[in-house]
Formats: sequence, structure tokens, C-alpha cells
Amino acid sequence: MGLARLSLLQLVAGLLLSVGCVRGRFVVEKSSIKVITPPALRAKHDAAIGNFGVPQYGGSMLGSLVYPGKDSFGCEPFDGDKPFKSKSFHPKILLLDRGGCYFALKVWNGQQAGAAAVIVADNVDEPLITMDSPDESTDVDGYIEKIEVPSALIDHSLGESLKQALQKGDEVLIKLDWRESIPYPDDRVEYELWISSNDECGIRCDDQMDFVNNFRGHAQVLEKGGYTQFTPHYITWYCPEAFKLSNQCKSQCINRGRYCAPDPEQDFGVGYDGKDVVFENLRQLCVHRVANESNRSWVWWDYVTDFQIRCSMKEKKYSKDCAEGVIKSLDLPLDKIKQCMGDPEADVENPLLKAEQELQVGRGSRGDVTILPTLVINNVQYRGKLERTGVLKAICAGFKETTDPPVCLSQEVETNECLTQNGGCWLDASANVSACKDTFRGRVCECPLVGGVQYRGDGYTYCEPFGPGRCSINNGGCWSETREGMTYSACTDSLLSGCSCPLGFRGDGHQCEDIDECKEGSACQCESCSCRNTWGGYDCTCPGNRIYLAQHDTCIERNGSRLGWSIAITVLAAVAGLCAAGYIFYKYRLRSYMDSEIMAIMSQYMPLDNHQSNEVHSEGQPLRGGPTV
Ligand SMILES: *[C@@H]1O[C@H](CO)[C@@H](O)[C@H](O)[C@H]1NC(C)=O
Ligand SMILES: *[C@@H]1O[C@H](CO)[C@@H](O)[C@H](O)[C@H]1NC(C)=O
Ligand SMILES: *[C@@H]1O[C@H](CO)[C@@H](O)[C@H](O)[C@H]1NC(C)=O
Repeated sequence: MGLARLSLLQLVAGLLLSVGCVRGRFVVEKSSIKVITPPALRAKHDAAIGNFGVPQYGGSMLGSLVYPGKDSFGCEPFDGDKPFKSKSFHPKILLLDRGGCYFALKVWNGQQAGAAAVIVADNVDEPLITMDSPDESTDVDGYIEKIEVPSALIDHSLGESLKQALQKGDEVLIKLDWRESIPYPDDRVEYELWISSNDECGIRCDDQMDFVNNFRGHAQVLEKGGYTQFTPHYITWYCPEAFKLSNQCKSQCINRGRYCAPDPEQDFGVGYDGKDVVFENLRQLCVHRVANESNRSWVWWDYVTDFQIRCSMKEKKYSKDCAEGVIKSLDLPLDKIKQCMGDPEADVENPLLKAEQELQVGRGSRGDVTILPTLVINNVQYRGKLERTGVLKAICAGFKETTDPPVCLSQEVETNECLTQNGGCWLDASANVSACKDTFRGRVCECPLVGGVQYRGDGYTYCEPFGPGRCSINNGGCWSETREGMTYSACTDSLLSGCSCPLGFRGDGHQCEDIDECKEGSACQCESCSCRNTWGGYDCTCPGNRIYLAQHDTCIERNGSRLGWSIAITVLAAVAGLCAAGYIFYKYRLRSYMDSEIMAIMSQYMPLDNHQSNEVHSEGQPLRGGPTV
């Protein structure tokens, strides 16, 4: 039984690769290594990114190379307490030789000894290969999962020349660079994840589900913002023609042997069958397809995590009914999904699964997909541990610079380069303002925005607040001083930038000094005046009882000015009196006029006393034509 199972699976797997009539293709993903010193070796080389650990996609690492004279294979733990932990500014990058044990074990030992990265030099002359992680059965301590440092393989000749330089006692500085490892053609990243709905395949399945759970938040933010286009994929096998009617094919395949999956328990008689897995995979594909049609593609992440929790194979809940319950609770149209899945018993092709089979075959920059889970970003296969921050960095590296979505500039992907010497950027320690910005691409020196006020400058040697409100922050970087309750400042909001010493001071605005107006002879030139310098000004005193007029730098008589005031007051009083008199006079005239008008009107209706009428006449007012006759 065991033998039969194995041979069938091998046969199926072998035939899978012939689907596209090409040999299986594995693409080595590369980072670059730049030798900075010694100058004789200065050049850029390719390195192959290891398939474990966390490569710093989008970033780079400058470090000082170390090579352990003995134990250069790194197959045993290194002696001492973190012998390769950096004690200086540059982290240490450990160089080891290939051979003796698994690549992953060397890198693990290097990490345990404090190295920031591990480079393995090939021991034969050959094209670069990818260091893969060993089979999980050899990973009894689970160390592979715990590898956090990046690793790379370099070719034999580069390894030899680096070792020679180190043996001569040179300091070898190298820069590991992952910035070109993911292409970044535009402002949207396309990525795909090849997985399976099967949760009973040991460590690989657990890793895959952990990743989906942990990455869901980021994935949904990116997808909702339109920053990414994510597509899930599922590997399917098919049954060779000759076995189509066998019981094995019937239990592992749907659509008459066209689409198959290996038995989850690897035992045909027990538990779930391969066809259950293919069918659920198809459902998940359809969930994505249908959700995408209503522009809610991110719901796939909810479906997959909910399904795993509610319909776990381990708890024997992996079923159609359970799946449909999840679909309903996510408010997805069940009828559309059923329609998309078609009839699993029918002897017809399923367009979705057929497309998946074709996509499994590598093309262009992407190799064949043969292992799960596989993540492909901008058509390049992600190398290294599938882990939330590492994958986010890799996706972020796929954006053209400056089009990074905010999540790519968040704390989670920071490199912490600002912690040492402020990353070499400008810093105003007194105001706690720094130009160092930590991003997944490494640190950038950029004048910051603080409390709504933008700083401007080169970011390295200087930054200055600019524009309105700038004086409220650290006085705009300008001089200011208070003495005896008096404050002078070289910052004014009317100036958009720069500092200028206030009147009475001189300097560059960052330092201002009081001008001694008395000594410099610019003030208090009046005859016999006595001058006393003050902070920000001066006092000038006139001789005798005279008063100093600063505007004219002259003295005037105290008495004279008193006389002047009394004359002015007299004149004013006279003017006011005249006005009042005029007003009274006018009022009287007006009143008389009104009276005469009324008299004139009334006189048309009744005889009037002549005396009054005459009186009115005597006032010289024009009258309506002689009504008295
Ligand atoms: C998802 O929908 C977009 C259009 O909204 C389309 O371009 C894309 O191909 C769809 N993806 C899948 C996997 O159907
Ligand atoms: C989804 O978005 C595309 C373009 O982005 C639009 O043409 C289509 O009508 C949308 N579909 C729904 C159901 O909103
Ligand atoms: C400076 O600011 C940072 C955050 O902007 C804060 O964490 C830190 O405690 C501040 N340091 C001082 C000395 O105020």
C-alpha cells in the first residue's frame, strides 16, 4: 500500500512538470554585495538570497566582514559569548565556507554568535545556487524558524579574495544590498500567494496559516487602498490517463481525474481525501473571484482565516456545510460561488482550475511553483521566511520610491538606523528635533515637519523651521534673550525664514549682541547731553531742565512746551464755544422757520393775527402768495 501510494504521487508530480512541455525551472533570486574596502577589491557582485532567515528587501546593510580562522564551516556553535557581536559602529557580517552541514545550521550558529548576517562562500566554481532550508524532519529543535538574520551565498572566487584580504589584516567593509531584488516598475504591486486549504501537512501548513493570519491586516489595508493587486493561487495535480479510473484517482481528484490533491493524511482509507482538498481550494478561488467582482477582493483573507478557525481539518469540521456557513456570515453571494465552482463530478474542464495548472509552470523571471507556500511579488519569488514584517518590506520594496503607501513608512518596518548617531542626520538635541527618518528602505535624512511647521535644509548639516508659526518652535532656531523682564528675539513671523537681530542689536541672528549706541556715536549727539547704554537701547539725558526728543536727537525746553499747551487749550476752548453758539443760533432759526410754515398753512383756513404774520415776514422768509386778502 505504502509503495503504491508513493509511486502514484511521484508519477503525478512528475507528470505535472510536463504540463507546459518544459523542464522544471528554479530561479535563483539575487541580492548584491558591494565591497567598499579594501579599495583593490572594490566592486559589485551577485549573491544568492537564502531560502530562510529574513532578507532585508528594499534595504541594505553595511558591515565589517569576519572570517573565523578555525571552524570556518560553522557547523558547531561558536565558543564564547556572542564572539561576532559588533562592538563598533558597523555590524559584523560572518563569512563561512560551504560544506560539512546544512546551510541553515551555519546561519543559525552565526546568528547565535551575534553576527548580523551570514555569507557562505561556495566551495566549487559554479553558477550561484539558492541555499534551501533542509527538510523539516532534520529541524528537531525548530531552529530554522528562529533564523532572523539575512544570508547569502557568494561564488568561490569572491570568497577566496575576501578571505585573502582578511588574512592580510585589512578591514573588509561590504554592503549587502536588497534594493534591486524586487522590481519596482510602478505604483502598484502585484503579488500572489500559492497555498492550500489543507491544514494537516505539518510545519509547512502551520507556517502558511500563521502567515495568512498575521499578514491579513496589512494585506487588507494595501488592497483597500488600491496599492496592491493580490491573487491567491492553489497548486493542483492531475491524474495520468492510465490511472483515471483507479480508486486512488477517484478519491483524490474531481472532474474525472482532471484536478487532484495529495491525500491529507497520506492514507487513502482514513479521514479526508485529496478531492476534499481540491474542492475547498476551488471554493477559495471562487470566493476571491466573486469578492473581486464586487470590488471587495480583500474578503478572501477573512474567508481563509475564518475557515481555518471554524472548519479545521484537525477538528474534523472541514466540510462543505461549514464552508458555506462562513460564506454566509461574510455576506458573500453563495449562489455565485456555487456557480463558479461547477459540478465536481462532471466530465468537463473547470476554467479556473485549468488556468491554475497552467500558471504553475514558471515563465519569465519566475520559476515553477512546486512548494507551498510560495509568495511571488512583482513576478519574482520571495526568498526567506514567510513572516509578516519581512514580507511587508518585500512588498514595499516593489513600489517605485515616493509611491510607497503609508503602511510602508510605519514603525513596524523601521530599520532603527536612527538610533546610532542619529543616522548621520541633522539633530537639534535641545529642541528634540531630528531629520532622521527610519523607513524600510533604510534611514533618510529629511528636514521634518514639527507641530505643523515645516523645516527646510539639506537634512544632514542643517534644518530650519520655515513659514508661519516657525517662531513658536525653538524660536525659529534664532537668538532670543530675556533680561530683567525684557525679551528680544531675532525671529519674526513676517520673515518666512532666517533670523535677523532686532533694533539695538547686531549679529547673524543666531547670536546677537547689544549695540553700545553711546560709544558708537550714532545717538545722543545733542550738545552737552549725557549718554548711558542700556540692553537693547540707550538713555540720553539733556542738561538742565530740558527734555530729550529721540526722533530729532535734540533737547527742548520743558517750560516752552507748557506754554504751548496752554495756548492750544485756549484756542480749542474758543473753537468749542463758537461751535456751541452757532448750534444754538441755528436751532433757534430752524424753530422759527417751522413755526412760520405752520402759520402759513393754517392761515389759509382761518384769519390770523396780522402781527404774527408780519413778524414772520420780518424774518425774511419767503411766503406762499398773499393769502390774507
Ligand atoms: C479582480 O478585478 C480586477 C478589476 O476590478 C481585475 O483587473 C483583476 O484581474 C481581477 N482579478 C482576478 C483574480 O479575477
Ligand atoms: C469595480 O470597479 C471597477 C473599476 O475599478 C468598476 O468598473 C466596476 O463597476 C466596479 N464594480 C462594482 C460592482 O462596484
Ligand atoms: C524626543 O521626542 C521623542 C519622540 O518624538 C520622544 O520619544 C523622546 O522622549 C523625546 N526626548 C526628549 C528628551 O524630550
